[in-house]
Amino acid sequence: MWKPAEKIRWYPDPGHLPDAQERASSTLFSPLQIGRLCLRNRTWVPAMVPWRATDDGYVTPEVLDWYGRFARGRPAAIVVEATGIRDVPSGPLLRIGHDRFLDGLEKLVEVVRKESGGTTRLFIQLIDFLAIKRRPERGKFLNRFLVITQQHRRALNMMDAGEAGIRSAMIAMSDNDLEQALTPREFEALTKGYREQVNDTHLDHIEELPRVLPDLFAQAASRAGKAGFDGVELHYAHAYTMASFLSATNQREDGYGGAASRRVRLPLEVFKQVRQSVPENFVVGARFLASEAIEGGSSLEDVCQFATAFAEAGMDFLSLSRGGKFDDAKQPKVGAAAYPYTGPSGYECMPQYISDEKGPFGRNLAATKAIRQAVRAAGFATPVVAAGGIHNFEMAEATLNNSTADIIGAARQALADPDWFRKLETGHGDTIRLCEYTNYCEGLDQNHKQVTCKLWDRLQLDEPGVRKSSDGKRRLTAPDWAPE
Ligand SMILES: Cc1cc2nc3c(=O)[nH]c(=O)nc-3n(C[C@H](O)[C@H](O)[C@H](O)COP(=O)(O)O)c2cc1C
Ligand code: SF4
Repeated sequence: MWKPAEKIRWYPDPGHLPDAQERASSTLFSPLQIGRLCLRNRTWVPAMVPWRATDDGYVTPEVLDWYGRFARGRPAAIVVEATGIRDVPSGPLLRIGHDRFLDGLEKLVEVVRKESGGTTRLFIQLIDFLAIKRRPERGKFLNRFLVITQQHRRALNMMDAGEAGIRSAMIAMSDNDLEQALTPREFEALTKGYREQVNDTHLDHIEELPRVLPDLFAQAASRAGKAGFDGVELHYAHAYTMASFLSATNQREDGYGGAASRRVRLPLEVFKQVRQSVPENFVVGARFLASEAIEGGSSLEDVCQFATAFAEAGMDFLSLSRGGKFDDAKQPKVGAAAYPYTGPSGYECMPQYISDEKGPFGRNLAATKAIRQAVRAAGFATPVVAAGGIHNFEMAEATLNNSTADIIGAARQALADPDWFRKLETGHGDTIRLCEYTNYCEGLDQNHKQVTCKLWDRLQLDEPGVRKSSDGKRRLTAPDWAPE
């Protein structure tokens, strides 16, 4: 993973632990009721992909264990991992693109209801993504994949050469010379692997995205309702299709790209169709980026405009993330695909303990606050979820009380200790396992391995009934905890 040049080491801090009176009068543990969103308090576990679905996208016993374990910590809400809305193979990612996935998803809902004693609201994150290929071998790319054009002949000054001649000439060229001879997209396909983009409107299936996506999202949301979820989170963040429509890098000329008002058009059309396809009390919110954290990304002003438009359209919550883009991802090894969390924007998404002077805790809060203020100034009370390095009561409480957010999302801290909110709430804050923000879990995610936390995955391995990783070396969920 990319790290800031300063390489300053940061440590999590348990902060002040609240006594009974502080807990009772806290904002964190006070209920929230704004529009359709009704939570018993302000605690929220954001989406985290644990790589536990089957290769064809079904819920497994391991998926049930993962969510059951978070539910035993009784957060007010859990968002189920990014789940594919199309009926196409997508590896071991959960899918919701067909009714055959309903059985498994219903079981997931049942497990969370049971393990949380009915106290946790359950949402599922709906994602669409475009194709990405592995980085090819140089020879294979130049000999087989590259389509030879007149532009190549001109660049090589070989107007009369046949295809084979152009290919052999290119193979003999240095990468620097090749960069001049290929288009930027071709050079990217060679050095990082081919990746479809929303700007590729010469491809029919990319051109027609605005016509097909509203219905795909709406059908997936309707299925989520049938499976018993309380709502959906539309994934408009990070490196995926909908975030790419919102991005300032979206230059489509069909009315869905260019100015911020056009870039937000498809996300609004998707939301509108989703809203029409689900019951009246079903919650529909979105996760999007407070900052893309890339050169040429959307400005804060653009994002305030998006957030206000979402609130005005009637979204039930706005969850803000940061970065996580392909644009600045590290060059993958030959045979591997680029991964959007390996560059500086990836760092902003899941900031790690080796950091700069700003540190990994709360890097997204200033932007989150500005966006919430814009939404409030426009007259909307839509709740805002903050995330990014929040790991103690003081920080959570300050975030709520200084008008930054209405709900506290904690992903890695909840993975490190799924009971942490409950421990705080019941006066057992001194037993919380604090996340160290080393991103061991993220490394597993990047390698598509079952995600666990280094603080507990080797503990009590011989406990009866403990489910282990495929190599048998790690337990897949945190040991249980009960108040004494
Ligand atoms: C293993 C892992 C998987 C993640 N998967 C998702 C995901 O499916 N969807 C999403 O929006 N964010 C995902 N994230 C990002 C988190 O939801 C969160 O925004 C990020 O980790 C920063 O919050 P934190 O500091 O509380 O962990 C993932 C994070 C981790 C560590
Ligand atoms: S492995 Fe555990 S301690 Fe390390 S960052 Fe992930 S959740 Fe935190």
